[in-house]
Amino acid sequence: MDGLGGEGRELHERRMAWWREAKFGMFIHWGLYAIPAGVWKDRCIPGIGEWIMHTARIPVKEYEQLAKRFNPVKFDAREWVGVAKEAGMRYIVITAKHHDGFCMFDTKYTDYNIVKATPFGRDPLKELAEACREEGIKLGFYYSQTLDWHHPDGLGNDWDYSPSKQNFTRYLREYVKPQLRELLTNYGQVAVLWFDIGTPTPELARELVEFVREISPDTIISGRIGGVFRWGPIKGLGDYIEMGDNQIPNQKLEEDWEVPATMNDTWGYKSYDHNWKSPGRIIQTLVDIVSKGGNYLLNVGPTAEGEIPEPCVRILREVGEWLRVNGESIYGAEASPIDMAPDSIYRCTVKPGKLYIHVFGWPWYGELRVSGVKSKVKFAYLLADHSELKFKQEGEKVVVRVPEKAPDPVDTVIVLEI
Ligand code: GLC
Repeated sequence: MDGLGGEGRELHERRMAWWREAKFGMFIHWGLYAIPAGVWKDRCIPGIGEWIMHTARIPVKEYEQLAKRFNPVKFDAREWVGVAKEAGMRYIVITAKHHDGFCMFDTKYTDYNIVKATPFGRDPLKELAEACREEGIKLGFYYSQTLDWHHPDGLGNDWDYSPSKQNFTRYLREYVKPQLRELLTNYGQVAVLWFDIGTPTPELARELVEFVREISPDTIISGRIGGVFRWGPIKGLGDYIEMGDNQIPNQKLEEDWEVPATMNDTWGYKSYDHNWKSPGRIIQTLVDIVSKGGNYLLNVGPTAEGEIPEPCVRILREVGEWLRVNGESIYGAEASPIDMAPDSIYRCTVKPGKLYIHVFGWPWYGELRVSGVKSKVKFAYLLADHSELKFKQEGEKVVVRVPEKAPDPVDTVIVLEI
């Protein structure tokens, strides 16, 4: 933000340091919408689960009733953080307040919150903050600063409220800002504030960003805050470019970027969405993202009982197993120095002195041909077991002799020491 001259740039670099190293984070969409889980009055409601109130035009008075039934007794912060950790994720961003306006944290500014309005009566963000601290995982909060279908002055609900009578500035100053202060001061260091869907005017967006910076200069601010909203990559006044949902650029970007992504086709839990991406696809997506200089914020949508769906846990565990062997080529790695066609059989990530060639499609003819290698290669080996590979280099072209069968059919990492 603010052109990032002088001190601004230094602060920005400081707050981004861990994030650039981390590469892989867990997004958690959890709220009242986990109860209907995609079904309202016996009807399957199309679209993403956390939008059910909007899609089905559920009146505030009806939707509110869900709170009385929200009792996620199986919620265990340590278990969730354990799932993230085992998956090799280094940060978590959880919905403190989504567009439905229900607050998943203790707040003085509305009783419409998990502590006061539900039989559960606990503050899950407190418990997560503690578990994250214990495990060395960074914790961030998603906060819907613009859409709020419950608050009379929040935007987006035209079935209960009439937009012309709404006072968004009042909502932002008397509700959003005080709540952000609570989030930024009651839960220890907040790693990321994840804003969504623009803000009505650039002035109000700036006011909000400056407010956050003042309270917590080390908190990273996501890109979806600025005067305008459009789908697709947006940096707004944030610290990095937020890509559109599930959108990966074709080429590397020179700036920091992140893609929020789903494991199936919803963010909030939907009981009948079983369209899970395979572990292999998630691993290759992570590699593709890192090879283009980005971060992967992969979502889970826990149930109303408080559990991360079992298929997610299983898939993430497999991703974690791959990362335990190959993490060196991901964490803290930088974008590929080699230009690559989108349909190339490999991707490349880099660290000082090492090129990591990630082979997605194994060459049946026994040699891997890598072009565009500008440095002299001294040594080649498989990252998994450090077994040496023979190679030849002619100018920028390196030909590596490889085993007949892919040691790892999803992604075999070959290290070229330069
Ligand atoms: C979209 C949706 C929102 C979701 C977000 C995640 O903006 O409106 O429900 O939280 O994507 O990136």
